[in-house]
Amino acid sequence: MYTVGIITASDKGSKGEREDVSGAVMQEILKENGYDVKEYRIIADEQALLEEAMKEMADEKKVNLILTTGGTGFSMRDRTPEATLAVCDRLAPGIPETMRAYSMQITNRAMLSRAVAGIRNQTLIINMPGSPKAVKESLECILDALSHGLAILAGDTGECAR
Ligand code: MTE
Repeated sequence: MYTVGIITASDKGSKGEREDVSGAVMQEILKENGYDVKEYRIIADEQALLEEAMKEMADEKKVNLILTTGGTGFSMRDRTPEATLAVCDRLAPGIPETMRAYSMQITNRAMLSRAVAGIRNQTLIINMPGSPKAVKESLECILDALSHGLAILAGDTGECAR
């Protein structure tokens, strides 16, 4: 069972001014798919705070996967992709490419998400947009291949044949 840390990037959510529906949806879908959600935090859209949380989840809690929701758009406060790029040592561009291509069939606003994915040591970090609908759609298209990627990253398999 792979372990997961969830980070919701939201100024209002971090102050308790907005209910974090997206984080809850993310948590629910992951649990339904057999993931062990170990950490869940709501953090303001501050790059340094986001980096700190990602580093702690990856380096100390050693989760297999960190999923973020929010802060991927064009608002001046949106810094989640920058925080992710700052803490990753390798990139995994195929994941956000897939999320955007899949989501473009649903809404052309999908092109407005600047989400990235990358790897810090043995932790995969994936950004998702902030709405519950976007979280559901983004997970829908990556879940099938995700466990294979996590298995390779953890050294559980080197075998790609189905
Ligand atoms: N992706 C999917 N699958 N579904 C959506 O509804 N909304 C888009 C986009 N990606 C959306 C989506 C919109 S409207 C925006 S502005 C961007 O994600 C950025 O969202 P964020 O700033 O909440 O991260």
